[in-house]
Amino acid sequence: MIDRFRIFMSLKDKIALDQLPEHIAVIMDGNGRWAKQYNKNRVFGHTNGVKAVRETTEACAELGVKHLTLYAFSTENWSRPQDEVSALMKLLLKTIRLEIKTLNKNDIRLRAVGNIKGLPASTRKELEFAIEATKENKRMELILALNYSGKSELVNAMQLIASEVKSGTLSPDQIDEKTISDKLYTAGIPDPELMIRTSGENRLSNFLLWQLAYAEFYFTSVLWPDFGKEELYKAIVEYQQRERRFGKTSEQISLTKATNA
Ligand code: IPE
Ligand code: IPE
Ligand code: MG
Repeated sequence: MIDRFRIFMSLKDKIALDQLPEHIAVIMDGNGRWAKQYNKNRVFGHTNGVKAVRETTEACAELGVKHLTLYAFSTENWSRPQDEVSALMKLLLKTIRLEIKTLNKNDIRLRAVGNIKGLPASTRKELEFAIEATKENKRMELILALNYSGKSELVNAMQLIASEVKSGTLSPDQIDEKTISDKLYTAGIPDPELMIRTSGENRLSNFLLWQLAYAEFYFTSVLWPDFGKEELYKAIVEYQQRERRFGKTSEQISLTKATNA
């Protein structure tokens, strides 16, 4: 236990707090496989994933990360067996209801991205209630991606832009990157600098296609229910060791650093 604590402390201490990602996005994957290890059904995995959500949220808030987006349910996930889908919706409802107090205590604002209208009415109501109840909180934003699909989000944005062009309030040559960003579910939220995916899958699965254009990707084989503070620190430490060049050369980056130091 003492050794574990030491590793825990030293990892956290390695994080440069003045170079934190402002926004971290997470694909919480591997709940089903985690449950299988214990010969339990998939829902058992989802239930145990809630603890990882709590730990990750707490760790981000403690460090000073401003936005945390968690991919909780994709539009494609409706294709899963009906009993799993309804258990997930119930779990979501219950978790949101239970967590409002803690979110308020920790000054965390809840938001959602995705086609929220397409959620079951009871889940949607609970979600909207929690969003309203936490809207004044300032320390961090916890953004749940629910019934989310990056491609649909872009289709939706394009439809909104097309209708503005049609009505004459926008001309095609006025359309720039900001026009598009402003029409996404994430309007006003900075793009994530770091994207984490658990469970060893190296793909995006339709997550934040536009917003992750220049994010650093961190893939870990850890299954989501086993993810916790320590794993998050590991991801941030690795992120901080990467050189983000944005098309420039390494020499240019070093020069800018030296000039600014
Ligand atoms: C992630 O875990 C949770 C959701 C997609 C809701 P999975 O349920 O995808 O778990 P695996 O990938 O089957 O192990
Ligand atoms: C992505 O995980 C969606 C969420 C984490 C909510 P999936 O497990 O659904 O992704 P695929 O199907 O393996 O790509
Ligand atoms: Mg999965």
